[in-house]
Amino acid sequence: MSLIIHPATSRRSLLAGAASVAAAASLPRVARAASLPTRELKLTSAPARWPIIGKPHPDTEVWCYGGRIPGPELRVRQGKSVRIIVENRLAQDTTVHWHGIRLPIAMDGVPGLTQPPIRPGESFTYEFTPPDAGTFWYHPHAHSLQQLGRGMAGALIVEEPEPVPVDRDILWVLSDWRLTSGAQIASGFGNAMEAGMSGRVGNTVTVNGAVSDEVRVRAGERLRLRLVNSSLARIMALRFEGHRPVMVAIDGQPCEPHEPEDGRLLLGPAMRIDVMLDMRGDSGRRYRVIDDFYDGLSYWLTQLAYEDKPPVRSHPLDAPRSLPRNPVPEPDLARAERHELKLQGGMMGGSAMMGMGGMMGMGHGASWAINGTSMTGDGHAGMAPLLTLQRGRSYVLSMRNDTAWWHPMHLHGHSFRVLARNGSAVPHRQWADTVLLPPKEKVDVAFVADNPGDWMLHCHVTDHQVSGMMTILRIA
Ligand code: C2O
Ligand code: CU
Repeated sequence: MSLIIHPATSRRSLLAGAASVAAAASLPRVARAASLPTRELKLTSAPARWPIIGKPHPDTEVWCYGGRIPGPELRVRQGKSVRIIVENRLAQDTTVHWHGIRLPIAMDGVPGLTQPPIRPGESFTYEFTPPDAGTFWYHPHAHSLQQLGRGMAGALIVEEPEPVPVDRDILWVLSDWRLTSGAQIASGFGNAMEAGMSGRVGNTVTVNGAVSDEVRVRAGERLRLRLVNSSLARIMALRFEGHRPVMVAIDGQPCEPHEPEDGRLLLGPAMRIDVMLDMRGDSGRRYRVIDDFYDGLSYWLTQLAYEDKPPVRSHPLDAPRSLPRNPVPEPDLARAERHELKLQGGMMGGSAMMGMGGMMGMGHGASWAINGTSMTGDGHAGMAPLLTLQRGRSYVLSMRNDTAWWHPMHLHGHSFRVLARNGSAVPHRQWADTVLLPPKEKVDVAFVADNPGDWMLHCHVTDHQVSGMMTILRIA
């Protein structure tokens, strides 16, 4: 395996950074209208070539949406219906999952389970009304390892009815790639050894589809920065040198504004964080954005490059940072029914499977399990639910990570409150749709089972999902 190109060692110069700034600066200040007809959008899945690293490296052969990496930034309105026609021009089946949106099961994009796969040359029309404002994203739920790993991902931004007072609203879709020395996507998807460990972590991280040298900013401005980790497996812990980002939303759902513990924004695959960032640095200076999640593998993602101009204001903006709440139903903890989900399997010390002895349901190619059962692949007809939940009832799921690896666990169609870690209450009880479990940790989440259907619950390290860390919760 060639691990040759790394952003820390092979920085392309200014082009990528400048392009992303130009795109961000031209974000439309959207005019508000009282009532809108259904918005219709088109999205095409197809192969393309894209300058991930930039000159002098060749373009990378990718699979993507709308001919670009990341896919088009879809901006829709909270409470307004949207219709998205997806055309499949790939040589294999696909679907689109609107990650984090609380939508009807038929629009959830799981092949076999919620819809037939979209065959090559065919289209499928998704239609839903997003109930929550926030930062969401979309990706395939068929052949996920290859399709996501080759570039199919984009952000779905649901706008608040009233604009939030910031100077600029900026999106960073962060993606991890495993590239060869010729800047092409390395083969070897679904490697069993990797599947039992960290999953396919790559060697190149991009900001909005390109290795980024800098993002230009202006002293005194307040940014709303939307971070999306669209990686197959890479977990990130971002530090902003010289800055104090304030978290205002997690997985699209507003939270009590707070600075992250130890100043690092922890983003597992599929997770999103919105931060408010006051640009308090000095004009003309540069500050690094560092990802140091993996011991000894720290690198810088990009740099905040201050223009050599006087600050746009002399005191930081004093507008409130908090975002309006979304209408997520509050679980009734006193009456909630509790269930334990044990996450099992994976390699330990390079060889043995952990806790898998004598378990049922370990199908071919399975490395992981939930409560002793492994469901593999991307979703298919006839998956038996692990639990049947009663519609309208509150539930607490205690997820216990009995493995030696990290798992970002995602529940489709719902947002849950993160209540406790290892039995201690967490400070902000934030809403989330994906919760990151460190090895050996137990996390309690609570939600109201208000959305009928067969909903997937799986690890979003794609190798883990497709090799067994997946199950179904049925809401009757
Ligand atoms: Cu983004 Cu089934 O997941
Ligand atoms: Cu996992």
